[in-house]
Amino acid sequence: MPAIVLVGAQWGDEGKGKATDLLGSRVDAVVKFNGGNNAGHTIVIGSGEAKQKYALHLLPSGILTPGCVPVIGNGVVIDLGVLFEEIDGLEARGVDTSKLVVSGSAHVIAPYNRTLDQVTERFLGKSKIGTTGRGIGPTYADKMSRIGIRVQDLFDRDVLHAKVTGALTLKNQTLVKIYNRKAFDIDAVVDELASYAERLKPMVTDTSLLLQQMLDEDRTVVLEAGQATLLDVDHGTYPFVTSSNATAGGACTGSGIPPTRISSVIAVIKAYTTRVGEGPFPTELLDIKGEILRNNGAEFGTTTGRPRRCGWFDAVVGRYATRINGVTDFVLTKLDVLTGMDEIPVCVAYEIDGVRYDELPTGQALFDRAIPIYETFPGWTEDISQARTFDDLPRNARDYVTALEQMIKAPISAIGVGPGRDETIAVRDLLDR
Ligand code: GDP
Ligand code: IMO
Ligand code: MG
Repeated sequence: MPAIVLVGAQWGDEGKGKATDLLGSRVDAVVKFNGGNNAGHTIVIGSGEAKQKYALHLLPSGILTPGCVPVIGNGVVIDLGVLFEEIDGLEARGVDTSKLVVSGSAHVIAPYNRTLDQVTERFLGKSKIGTTGRGIGPTYADKMSRIGIRVQDLFDRDVLHAKVTGALTLKNQTLVKIYNRKAFDIDAVVDELASYAERLKPMVTDTSLLLQQMLDEDRTVVLEAGQATLLDVDHGTYPFVTSSNATAGGACTGSGIPPTRISSVIAVIKAYTTRVGEGPFPTELLDIKGEILRNNGAEFGTTTGRPRRCGWFDAVVGRYATRINGVTDFVLTKLDVLTGMDEIPVCVAYEIDGVRYDELPTGQALFDRAIPIYETFPGWTEDISQARTFDDLPRNARDYVTALEQMIKAPISAIGVGPGRDETIAVRDLLDR
């Protein structure tokens, strides 16, 4: 029956992990379909003394839901060391990870690609992307250049050796002659990758077939994006993007589930905006207000610990996310972080070279020059973390949410008022489609 896509609407860190976790026990499988350990999802379970905080990078958020099958789809790039570290860390905390399955067609992040990511960034200097340095870009580049290492290659040493040799013949030249680095030893790389094979093998399966069978049995599958709409390699603020398709379209190619199976698209959107790394960000606040958002929202990266750039809500970005992803429901997160702001500006359009733009401009150079046109809303001071229905919110908070909903052109079906699982207002049932 239903396959539900869950994406980020802005530049990442909207609270996708919490949103997926919220869907909870009614979900039979959660699939990660793009990206790798560049993602960082913080999920808070329980409250008071029993409060547990989990930081996930590579594993789908469904790993925390008992009975749910967590799936790493073919569209993911896997750092095997990180995968097993994360599994061991969760097991040590009593989380059962035994249901995890991995696509044999997913690509593996080889050690030379981590190095290449880091040296390329250093080489770019002021023009750097601000990547997470995890080897994501070079691994996807290898996939497209058809010199990538796939999970299935790990199980035949001769095949693995031939593939690593093929990739390193070129890459060692680049590392030595351009970046003045040491060449990678082919056998050492093969040994490192092969050392994971035995432990990985029982997890590897035809994930596309498995998911299709689950859907045939009327079970619920959530396809959870890493990153977000404006970090998508095609639809984002290129070149300041990640190297995969983080929008709803990527859910099909990255999982092997056809578009005709998708019943709804949930987009997670913050009540303000953040961005990590370089690139244009029209509503960015470089003053004390930005500091306040960063501190109140604990806006420091789950993956790299970098302070996140903060700014006001951008409704042009929200509308764009609705259009690109075909959003059926929004989950609005972190409304509580705005409590105490005397007024809250929202970007409703841009002015670029004296011309008003109600939609995202297609040219990167134009977007670089976008000046936000703001509409300002009155703030509220009441603590909203205990609100559990829409009517529990103060009038100004309700008006803010209603205005955003109209501007982004899709219903806001849940509202986050705190990091905890229960700190949520359910306006409509997200799974009832
Ligand atoms: P993701 O990458 O989209 O999964 O998001 P991250 O986990 O990187 O960042 C979102 C952060 O906000 C996490 O620390 C969450 O615990 C937290 N969070 C999620 N929803 C809310 C909310 O409604 N209010 C507050 N205060 N924090 C939230
Ligand atoms: P989640 O899933 C925020 C950003 C990096 C950099 C750019 C490219 O937690 O929302 P990469 O290492 O992917 O080549 O870096 O993308 N980036 C993210 N920003 N949240 C993420 O993931 C991100 N994953 C990558 O900061 O600007
Ligand atoms: Mg994150």
